[in-house]
Amino acid sequence: MNKEILRQTVTRLVAKPKGILAIDESLSTCNKRFEKLGISTTEEKRREYRELLVTAPDIEKYISGYIIFNETIRQKTLTGKNFTDILKLKGMEIGIKVDEGLVDLPDHPGEKFTQGLDGLAERLKEYKNMGATFAKWRVVYSISENTPSDLCMKTNAEILAKYAAICQARDLVPIVEPEVLLEGDHTLEKCYEVSAQNFKILFIELKKFNVFLPGIVLKTSMVISGKNAGDRAPAEKIAEMTVKCLEEHVPKEVGGVVFLSGGQGDEEAVINLNAISKLKSSWHLTFSYGRAIQNPALKSWAKNPEDITGAQKLLVAAARNNSLASVGQYK
Ligand code: 13P
Repeated sequence: MNKEILRQTVTRLVAKPKGILAIDESLSTCNKRFEKLGISTTEEKRREYRELLVTAPDIEKYISGYIIFNETIRQKTLTGKNFTDILKLKGMEIGIKVDEGLVDLPDHPGEKFTQGLDGLAERLKEYKNMGATFAKWRVVYSISENTPSDLCMKTNAEILAKYAAICQARDLVPIVEPEVLLEGDHTLEKCYEVSAQNFKILFIELKKFNVFLPGIVLKTSMVISGKNAGDRAPAEKIAEMTVKCLEEHVPKEVGGVVFLSGGQGDEEAVINLNAISKLKSSWHLTFSYGRAIQNPALKSWAKNPEDITGAQKLLVAAARNNSLASVGQYK
């Protein structure tokens, strides 16, 4: 492990006023989003869409790196340029999703663990040769009366720690993503409790596996009321409790902290990040959004597939809004 390389990559990923764009939807997730909008679910359509995302002019002012998917890292533009070369030319980091999705946790209804450790070191070698400098692995916890269990959080934390250690051995920065899902009617206080326990268990495991904390990026959900909660807490409360939870439960040596949008509305995700950024914290807290940045562009492209420029303008506008929010300057 070269700690200096890891530190430098983290510094570039969370440089102000930028954030990360996630376009790493698996085939099934991408196809589901396409189907909803009446787009055909072919490899060529996915390539076309991702070409639009990768070639958006000037997006590099707001985005430090793209997280892409195994299919996308091998794809080219219509004129034959590798997507990876385009990202590199624009000075952006290339990230790769390396987990292989969710599996039911035996005897724990509603709980999942994330698979994909088999062959990971070999896959990383190939991705690194293709230009990747960071990777991503997501685990999920849903809040209900009986979940998440400590067993589920410990199982996933151990997997995240093994993944992170394997990435760092190859000088790739691991994005460590333990997502507390937004679905449900839980209160913000309940989300705080679960997030705090999640961090406690996570950092015990990361330390056990000697993960170099300045060389990781923690990708987390915000401390937020459930999507179907009756009386959802406002942005100021989300910001206060999110920053409190991070300050109290995340070691200060952690290199970077970014947020997922997790199904928040596009504007909601910007406003919440803006409120968070106004508070004092130990990190430049920024975004690593997927849906909250892609949604307007995807919808526009679904309606007018010829109007690539129009869709790209919407993408860049969303990236810009979130960049402003990451330094507390949105509106
Ligand atoms: P969302 O912002 O759409 O939640 O996606 C971020 C991500 O990378 C989820 O793993």
